[in-house]
Order: sequence, then C-alpha cells, then structure tokens
Amino acid sequence: MTPHHLITGATGFLGRHLVRGLLARGQRVSALVRGDDDQAALSRLVAVLGDGVDVANLRVVAGDLVGSFGAERLLRGAPLDHVWHLAARLDLGRRRPVRLHEVNVAGTAAVLDLCERGRVGRLHHVSTAYVCGAANGPVLEDEGVGPVMHHNAYESSKYRAEALVRAAARRGLAASIYRPSIVVGDSRDGRAETFGAFYLVVRLCYLAREVGPIILPGSPDVTLDLVPVDRVIAALLALHARDDVSGHTFHLTNPAPPTIRDLVEAGNAALDMRIAEVRDVPADELPWPSSALFEPAAAMLPYLRRRLCFDGANVAERLGPDFLRVEQPPRQWLTQLMQHAVQRDFGLDRAALTRDVRLLRRMLEKAVRPERRGGQAIASSTAS
Ligand SMILES: NC(=O)c1ccc[n+]([C@@H]2O[C@H](COP(=O)([O-])OP(=O)(O)OC[C@H]3O[C@@H](n4cnc5c(N)ncnc54)[C@H](OP(=O)(O)O)[C@@H]3O)[C@@H](O)[C@H]2O)c1
Repeated sequence: MTPHHLITGATGFLGRHLVRGLLARGQRVSALVRGDDDQAALSRLVAVLGDGVDVANLRVVAGDLVGSFGAERLLRGAPLDHVWHLAARLDLGRRRPVRLHEVNVAGTAAVLDLCERGRVGRLHHVSTAYVCGAANGPVLEDEGVGPVMHHNAYESSKYRAEALVRAAARRGLAASIYRPSIVVGDSRDGRAETFGAFYLVVRLCYLAREVGPIILPGSPDVTLDLVPVDRVIAALLALHARDDVSGHTFHLTNPAPPTIRDLVEAGNAALDMRIAEVRDVPADELPWPSSALFEPAAAMLPYLRRRLCFDGANVAERLGPDFLRVEQPPRQWLTQLMQHAVQRDFGLDRAALTRDVRLLRRMLEKAVRPERRGGQAIASSTAS
C-alpha cells in the first residue's frame, strides 16, 4: 500500500521541498496548514509548491498548532505511516519566548498526543543542531544534550521539544529526531526560496557596500555550518523509511562547512562587499558604523564565533560520510548562494527594500560624523 504521510510546516522552507519530494515519489500526503478553511489552506500550500507539482495525492486540513489543531480530522482518514513534524517559529531575534513556547514546545506536545492516540507508524521530528546551545567541542547525536545555556529562546524551545519527543519514545513511540544546522540554498546552484538568518547577515554586508569598509564580528577560522536544502531533504527521504532509524537522532550537517574567512572572501570578490576585517568580539564592541550595522542580525552573530563540531556518525553509517557534502569548492558555492539572494532581492518587496536603503542613508550620515556617537574610525586593513 502507498505510504501515507502527515506533515506540519508544509508551507515552510523545508516543508515545501519535503512535500514535493514525497509527491514526486507517488506517496500520499496530508498536510496541516494554517488557513480559514481547508480550501484556503490548500490554496496557500499549492501556491508555495509552485507549478509542475502533481497534487492529486495531496490532502490539506486547515489547522493551527496553537488552538484549533485539527487532530481528529487528520486521524479520520487512512492510517498515517509517517508523521513529519516541521512546524515551528524560527524567530531567532525577537524576544517572544511565550509565542515560541506555544508553537515549538506545546505544538510538539500536541503532535505527540496525535501520534500516541492515533494509528501512527512513525514520528519524524525536525529539530535543530543548535539544541546543543553553548556546548563546546564535538556534539553527539544519540546521547541527546544535557541542560545547557542556550543563545536564544528559539534554541531552548527546540531543546525542550526534543526532550518531549525523547520522553514519548521511551513510552514506546517510534520516533526519529533530525537536526539540521543552518539550511540554505541548493548545493548545485545556490537557489533558495526563503532568505532567513544567514541571509540577513549577507544582506547587511551587501547593503554596507555604500557605507565603506566594515568589520564583521566573527572568527575567521570558525566554520559556519551551512547545509544545502536539497541534501537535507534527500537525507530525510533516504532515512525515514529505513528499519534502523527509530530511536535515533541524526545530525543533518555539512561534513565540510565553509569558514567565516571563506564567506568574507567570496562576498568581497563576487559581490564587492567591503568587509575589511573579521574581528572576534561581540558586535557592540565594534567601531561605528559596524556596531550599528549588525544590530538587526544580533541573534545570528554568536553563530559566527561558535566553535562547534557536529558528529555525523549516524548519517554516515547509513548513507555514507559524504551524503550531505557540497561537491563544489566552498567559496564557489558561497558565491552562488549570495549571488542568488541578491538576484532575488533577498526575498523582499519594494517597500522593505526602500526601508533598508533609507536606514542605510541615515547610517551613512552618522558614519561621516562619528564623534556625535562617540564612535571610532573604521579600520581599512584587508580581510583577515
Ligand atoms: N531553516 C533552517 O535553517 C533550519 C535549521 C535547523 C532546523 N530547522 C527546523 O526545521 C523546521 C522547518 O524550518 P523552516 O526553515 O522550513 O521554517 P519556516 O520556513 O519558517 O516554516 C515554518 C513552518 O511552520 C508553520 N507554522 C508556524 N507556526 C504554526 C502554527 N502555529 N501552526 C501550524 N503551523 C505553523 C509555518 O506555517 P505558516 O506558513 O502558516 O506560517 C511554516 O509552514 C523547523 O522545525 C525548524 O526548527 C530549520
């Protein structure tokens, strides 16, 4: 019988790729999607899936993980072989822990309840590699992570969601946990459909070309674990139906991630970014205007200085050590990622772009009179 999948977060960056992948394999997909009714929710999902996707095997149920979660209606159809839980709020920067808790923690509890009450085969929970929080050194998969300091409310909400999944697994639920790192565009051409976290830093560096040489807060040798969306989805599709995945955790991370130096050199060369230096200090210790420039990306900046190494033994054992590797050289791939984002205006509409430019002009004006802010001159050495 054709496997039946339920997906939360189907309209998201990863979810839409997963739905396309499953439908392309002829599988049946039910999706929980926010919308006023099933028809409106279906229209939303079909719009993000785009042209050329055969939706004959797709069923959409309108529902919100907070509040009117359509669990009963989802369980009414054919038995669910696989439940994929991707829905989450990814607000790294916004200080709205209550909302994050509602969706990421309580929402996961609601999905677990559905799995344990219904005739569900397996749960596939998409977590994040950064549940490791402030841990240093190699981060392992199956051991889980002990209580750690987290850099933001998003990380701690995902950590708590994982703990709920592990508890349900101990009660007997067949569950796997997948931990992607920072998911970005395609490994072959850099294409992406949404432009979150990493792209915000790129956008600020790109806009700052008009400000003059800037200093990026980060460590040149630190690796930034960017993993391409196509490899993440390929890994999920390859792993989920195997007999040896339930009860295990999988790091969906890049076996050879680029360094911050790679990022700077690619950006300076291909996009004429003017990053003069990478300095290993918090952004607010940088001279003006770099200190102000990176404020909107404050939540992302610690990732440019964290020395983490994600152990990928569970994936390597099942799919080989290079399954998630980007074949092209890091700088070439980074160039593609950034050039594509620029071509797509970082996914912004005209009003948002105009706002960006206006903000930048205000910064420019302040930058030529740094004494008014007590700022310092900008270093103009070459990128380190
Ligand atoms: N992107 C990354 O770099 C990355 C890295 C590591 C882990 N992850 C994890 O991967 C998963 C998917 O991430 P993503 O990048 O695809 O996220 P995304 O693009 O922000 O999409 C989030 C999805 O969650 C849905 N959602 C949010 N609140 C909801 C609610 N109250 N009820 C029902 N659905 C709700 C959204 O629906 P609407 O369209 O209605 O808003 C959307 O479909 C998340 O669990 C995330 O933590 C992502």
